[in-house]
Amino acid sequence: METQVLQVDPQRPDPQSIQSAADVLKQGGLVAFPTETVYGLGANAMDGDALSRIFVAKQRPTSDPIIAHIASVAQLTDLAVDVPDVAWDLADAFWPGPLTLILKRSPTVPDLIAEGRDTIAIRIPAHPITRAILTAAGLPIGAPSANRFTRPSATQASHVLEDLGGRIDMIIDGGNASIGLESTVLDLTSDPPRILRPGGLVIDRIRVVLPGVEFAPAYVQETEGHQSPGQMLKHYSPRATVLLFRGERRESTLERMALKAAELRDEDREVGALVTDEDAHALGEVAQIEQLGGEADAEEQARQLFAALRRLDERGVDTILVREPDRVGLGQALSDRLVRAAVGRVIEC
Ligand code: TXA
Ligand code: MG
Repeated sequence: METQVLQVDPQRPDPQSIQSAADVLKQGGLVAFPTETVYGLGANAMDGDALSRIFVAKQRPTSDPIIAHIASVAQLTDLAVDVPDVAWDLADAFWPGPLTLILKRSPTVPDLIAEGRDTIAIRIPAHPITRAILTAAGLPIGAPSANRFTRPSATQASHVLEDLGGRIDMIIDGGNASIGLESTVLDLTSDPPRILRPGGLVIDRIRVVLPGVEFAPAYVQETEGHQSPGQMLKHYSPRATVLLFRGERRESTLERMALKAAELRDEDREVGALVTDEDAHALGEVAQIEQLGGEADAEEQARQLFAALRRLDERGVDTILVREPDRVGLGQALSDRLVRAAVGRVIEC
């Protein structure tokens, strides 16, 4: 299959390109497009055959359910039933934006969107291109992140092309995703409501609307049946082995990392490191580094994370050392992605 790539201005999306994307979706095809979080791989959420193509293209197991993207809250009750009051409050506060709500699914939605469960994940994205496509298609669009299964999510069109080129109909290239991490997934069908995935919307902001929300990160080794979708330990992983260093004291953690890098180099391994600007000096001599941004600028680190992991792969390193950021604010989501990228290889310092 040939994958058509269309350049679209994210600020003023050209209606003709948007219409071509909407047409492909209406015909059951697959289109990758930018959202404010990461690139999504879209298909008509009401068409089981179209959804099945997503799983094939991504090589993703069908036990991992898909988020339905909608253009307005009016569509919520087309997809979900028994919508609780708090869902409307959260929608008011945070949509459009990087929040996904798990609700009870309407029987009109194909089972494949969340095989084996009676729930559905829904979000209204904020990106002008996504919104234009949703409006032009007039359909809810099911879209996981546009990467091959277990790979780092795509934050640029080139990442999508690398992972899915030749496997999907179209890529809308609208530049970089502005947040760089996926949406926060909040399950409103459990009591108390639970965060299933920390993401672009920080949990403290959700607590203002929903004080009782729980967050306990879960990392499971295999897809353990249908219990823990999306909580698999291996996820967001580059080809290189990632080692995550966790320590209260910055300088001594950096020393451990530099020692490890030297040790690996003695074994003729190519070592890379993902560092904040402040940490670059400590590892620049012993590893190929990619800088994520300033220590205090978690937003910039989030924007850079997945692209930097992919760049280190391109540079041919076989091990990547990273120091875990503080697990507060956006740091919770950064840490979550890094633990999974490291497949749980966390070194306590
Ligand atoms: O920011 C995002 O959420 C991006 C953009 C494209 O919108 N999408 C995304 O999709 O990250 P994906 O498929 O890579 O991640 C969706 C997560 C997975 O962890 C999945 O298991 C979970 O949401 N999920 C989806 N439907 C669910 C459901 N019914 N119950 C529980 N978890 C669900
Ligand atoms: Mg994903």
